[in-house]
Amino acid sequence: MSSALYDGFIADYYDESPIVRGRVRDVAFYRDAVLEHGGPVLELGCGTGRVALALAEAGHRVTGFDISERMLERCNQKRAEMRTEARERVRLVQGDMTKFDLGEKFRLVIIPFRPMQHLLEVEDQVSCLESVREHLWADGRGTGERRGRLILDVFQTDAERMHDPAYQEEGLVAEYSMPDGRRVRIMERVKAFHRAEQRNDVEMIFYVTDARGKEERLVFAWTLRYFFRYEVENLLARCGFKVSAVYGDFDRSPLEDGSPEMIFVAEAR
Ligand SMILES: C[S@@+](CC[C@H](N)C(=O)[O-])C[C@H]1O[C@@H](n2cnc3c(N)ncnc32)[C@H](O)[C@@H]1O
Repeated sequence: MSSALYDGFIADYYDESPIVRGRVRDVAFYRDAVLEHGGPVLELGCGTGRVALALAEAGHRVTGFDISERMLERCNQKRAEMRTEARERVRLVQGDMTKFDLGEKFRLVIIPFRPMQHLLEVEDQVSCLESVREHLWADGRGTGERRGRLILDVFQTDAERMHDPAYQEEGLVAEYSMPDGRRVRIMERVKAFHRAEQRNDVEMIFYVTDARGKEERLVFAWTLRYFFRYEVENLLARCGFKVSAVYGDFDRSPLEDGSPEMIFVAEAR
């Protein structure tokens, strides 16, 4: 289950990792999305607040929701360092996005950077999307014109890569230094393919070397659920959404064969 997953060592390494630090275009994309669709915003799987806190800095009320206590702790530390007015726009809630009731409606719900890919079972995906729908304003001013939006991103699946045995070998993903000088080398490998279930068991192996040269090996083992375009479109339709756009990247380019992302903008019906 996801809670234990991010409550491990990963929370301490997440923000410094080049994989996360290099991910900036999505923040600009989500910032523009709030300008377009309005707030307040609910971010599901907000983690350490990479997107949520940026939206609050930009002037929007944001609820960050995550299952992991340690990721939320990091988020809360970063929140404490924000300007008072921005800080006061952020509410953090711990819970499971497969079923939740926050007692509040939002103009926009976002699920950035793969939390959906942690929901392995279709029943959890459906239950999550149904909860999202219940939290979206169906009708802003009684006119039926401004319905709440959901935006989520998953990677575009390259079906061959998903079961290519070459990925069972450890491959280098990133190397970086922590603020305290420790060196980190992240390697990744697929431990098992479950093609019929659209899942892979993945290991991210962190080799951490301290100032005295002592190396520690930490393993972040998780199961990745991969999606295909029309599967997500059908899931959304099944849960009461109308898909208004599908992008292939954060520059809003159309989804094409080589697109890295699948970004869905859906309107609550
Ligand atoms: C890759 S991180 C993304 C964090 C953040 N959205 C970002 O863009 O940096 C995935 C996050 O999803 C959260 N998550 C996974 N399963 C969840 C669930 N069932 N309910 C709530 N959060 C979940 C994890 O705890 C983790 O913080």
